[in-house]
Amino acid sequence: MPQRYPVTSLASLPTSGGQAFTIAGRRIAFFNVGGKIHAMDDMCPHAGAPLSDGRLNGCVVTCPWHAWDFDVTNGRMPGQNEDCLKVYPVHVTGDQVEVEV
Ligand code: FES
Repeated sequence: MPQRYPVTSLASLPTSGGQAFTIAGRRIAFFNVGGKIHAMDDMCPHAGAPLSDGRLNGCVVTCPWHAWDFDVTNGRMPGQNEDCLKVYPVHVTGDQVEVEV
């Protein structure tokens, strides 16, 4: 059963790009898309690059190693219907960011 874990303060997350944290033994990347925080596994399924180091354009992050794109809102490659990366529900209460894992 998923549990909520505290992550960080909203103010400390970058307003563009990503930041990763280890939560419940998983490396999870957090992205701010227009003020909404999204959480997704940080490891690229191609060769393991940290997606939190990728360039964020809208809701799409580009892997820093070989430029594969992923939609941080659903973990899919744009235009495809298969889940590539696990996404996690994020809750923001005041300035506190929590994630369900
Ligand atoms: S490691 Fe991400 S595209 Fe190759």
